[in-house]
Amino acid sequence: MSEKRENWGSKLGLILAMAGNAIGLGNFWRYPYQAAKNGGGAFMIPYFAALILLGIPLMLVEWNQGRYGGKYGHGTLGPMVYLQAREGANPKVARILGGLAGALALGVTVLLNSYYNHIIGWTLGYAFETATGGYMDKAINTGEYFVKYIQSPGKVMVFWLIALAVLGFAVMRGIQKGIEAWAKFMMPTIYVFGIILIIRTLTLGAPVKPEWTPIAGLNYIWSPRWQDLNWTAALAAAGQIFFTLSLGMGIIQNYASYLKPEDDIVLSGLATVSLNELAEVILGGTIAIPIAYTFLGPEGLGAGVGLSFIALPNIFRQMAGGQIFGTFWFLLLFFAGFTSAIAMYNYLVALLEEEAGVPRRVGAVLVFIIYIIFGLPVGLEPILTKTADLAYLTELDNWVGSYLLVVLGLLEVIVTGWLLGLKGLEEMNKGSFWKVSKTFYNVFIQFLTPVSIIILLGFSTRDYFK
Ligand code: PHE
Repeated sequence: MSEKRENWGSKLGLILAMAGNAIGLGNFWRYPYQAAKNGGGAFMIPYFAALILLGIPLMLVEWNQGRYGGKYGHGTLGPMVYLQAREGANPKVARILGGLAGALALGVTVLLNSYYNHIIGWTLGYAFETATGGYMDKAINTGEYFVKYIQSPGKVMVFWLIALAVLGFAVMRGIQKGIEAWAKFMMPTIYVFGIILIIRTLTLGAPVKPEWTPIAGLNYIWSPRWQDLNWTAALAAAGQIFFTLSLGMGIIQNYASYLKPEDDIVLSGLATVSLNELAEVILGGTIAIPIAYTFLGPEGLGAGVGLSFIALPNIFRQMAGGQIFGTFWFLLLFFAGFTSAIAMYNYLVALLEEEAGVPRRVGAVLVFIIYIIFGLPVGLEPILTKTADLAYLTELDNWVGSYLLVVLGLLEVIVTGWLLGLKGLEEMNKGSFWKVSKTFYNVFIQFLTPVSIIILLGFSTRDYFK
């Protein structure tokens, strides 16, 4: 066991750090285009179903595993799963499950960061491009501008390295002085920028066509369309819930491992979900989609990954004050991505620190190097292939961002719900203000959550081979 582990400095710091962990590029970059691509109103039905069936139960399971592991000096998934499984299953099975969970979590974190950190770099680069007026000339095609951007090593690699270096520096300083301090500054700023951008969005009027109003854009997302419901949208929605809530990765557990044994996890877990959903469906959903709709109509929503980096820049330069609002948008994206990347970075540093005895400072440097090695192919793809289809990045996001997170989520809920069984409920309710009821535990955590994940995995595997 390691010497004394750090704890969170304050309740507010913990909640902001957890919100920072969950609120990320998923909320502002990924959610708008996933919702738009999957039919808008047809996406929101499975989205909320997944939030209730998977998101909330798993969030509680992960906080539970984290605080439990922290008691024994462990902040990473392998040992946590092993310890919980050992209480209810034979040690051999526990060791296999722990090993599997540890390896999967390590793989997912490294692979996800190989592209996630690049997108963080793009957001920083684009904040700079916007503030300095890089693409403000209307003769510039913002699609071509983006392609040129990701193909120029001097820009793409430099901003990526700056982002990584600042991340490494933040993690080196530890939980209170590093993670908590950055979250306390960045998280409130995200909400402030978000609200400013929403006001701007809703006052855009209808500059192109009378029927293309911001409200019509919102209607597109908020009118349920049962007839368009399909499995692809359901899978995308479930994947998005995992991604946006940082589930199935071990990073919620890692942050929860710095709790004290009697700290409330039920209330804090629910607060994390609420703050994230507020930032996703309200802030994330009320900026990018209505802005794109106002200028480009329903067609503009088909922009996919490029929505934030191609469609929106094109619009920012057409609207009054766009250079300022555009800079706010990319800074907001940067802060959101940064506070999530800190969580993933800290996961790897904790792994090295606790399971291999590597000091935090050295660990932070090692992770920096690992990130560069795995991130280089993603950064080099558009430069070497001279194309901008980002095929490798997209494939990684499909596999890691949707599939592997779900697999790991299943393993987690089986270990707590089935192997630890009702002791898991007891553990969850220790020190909590609101108690999770036995019915909720039986119906959701032990039954509906694992069963719906199994069904999901079945369908997505079938779709893959179709
Ligand atoms: N939840 C964060 C986001 O929305 C970060 C994250 C992504 C964490 C994917 C885990 C998996 O961006």
